[in-house]
Amino acid sequence: MLIPLILSGGSGTRLWPVSRRNLPKQFLSLSGDGTLFQQTVSRTQHLPDVAAPIVVASEDHRFLAADQLLEIRTEGASIVLEPMPRNTAPAIALGALKAIERDPQALLLVLPADHLIGDTKSFTDAVQQALPAAQDGWLVTFGIRPDRPETGFGYIRRAESIGGEAFRVAQFVEKPDQPTAQTYLDNGGYDWNSGMFLFKAARYLEELGQHAPDMLAAVRAAYATKQGDLDFMRVDAEAFAKVPDNSIDYAVMEKTSRAAVIPVSCAWSDIGSWSALWLSGQHDEQGNQREGDTLAVNTRNSLLRSHDRHMIATVGVDDLIVVSTPDATLVAHRDAAQDVKKVVDQLKASG
Ligand code: GDD
Ligand code: MG
Repeated sequence: MLIPLILSGGSGTRLWPVSRRNLPKQFLSLSGDGTLFQQTVSRTQHLPDVAAPIVVASEDHRFLAADQLLEIRTEGASIVLEPMPRNTAPAIALGALKAIERDPQALLLVLPADHLIGDTKSFTDAVQQALPAAQDGWLVTFGIRPDRPETGFGYIRRAESIGGEAFRVAQFVEKPDQPTAQTYLDNGGYDWNSGMFLFKAARYLEELGQHAPDMLAAVRAAYATKQGDLDFMRVDAEAFAKVPDNSIDYAVMEKTSRAAVIPVSCAWSDIGSWSALWLSGQHDEQGNQREGDTLAVNTRNSLLRSHDRHMIATVGVDDLIVVSTPDATLVAHRDAAQDVKKVVDQLKASG
């Protein structure tokens, strides 16, 4: 059984002021039809013999997730709720335990809920190419050809072919620093980790037990407290609070010797920041991307979005991000888009 596991617990702080604690980016329509979360779920429905998804999300967003699934008529989904975020390694472990209840041999297709994928056919082809390796016990990643020394991604060095389209991973490096990322780009033998994975649920738990036994034990203890009411499954907050915080990339993928990669050629974007959104979208002749009521005079390579009734007018500026909402306006240089999360940190600190 192939089960999509949709990771929807991120907070999307770099897309402030549109992405908010109560309405993070995965539940927003930022590009294309439907929200990023709905696009992610819908994309899996093109896979042959695919089961209903397992969604792992924050308790705070349970109604958003349930309503948005209903809107796209997804039936039979399980929504696993986390009392607090503990990053992706525990979220996937919760989903894996749930999947094994449905089928001990279940294959999990782990998908971040906040990515844009240009071409559903290449995506479904890649998943099908990954199936044999995943059945054989590999933890399969999907590699994207890098075109810049991005430090927000994992880097994968390909080794020999292990059959079909799959290669063994010689080295997995999560979020290298800038000079290292530049070396990888120059070197040429590296792919970006897209953050999507395919593996047997049981194999993931086995690897987690090997590389992060405390985490696995804490997740199992939390899972033992589970209570299900209809579509939602909850775990005890006190038990889940004891789970160490870490991502699958650091906790498992950097350490395992059984990682494989399927190179993928489809247009793919982790809509991590306003500059990533600008990069992935359509531009006018001046290189601007505009949404809502905007006016750009002598303005180039900028992202202007008005999410309220205020008009944004810019004159004689380049490489700017201007995002306006009813209660907050962001003005940032496109090169500083990663630092938008510092605004959110400061707002949090000041209560
Ligand atoms: N349920 C749940 N709980 N989901 C979470 C949590 C959590 O605690 N934390 C993050 N997520 C979700 C996010 O919403 C996102 O969809 C996905 O898991 C990945 O988390 P990110 O925080 O966005 O990771 P990243 O972008 O920094 O890095 C990952 O993705 C890159 C590609 O986009 C890594 O896998 C990198 O190696 C990879 O290159
Ligand atoms: Mg991400």
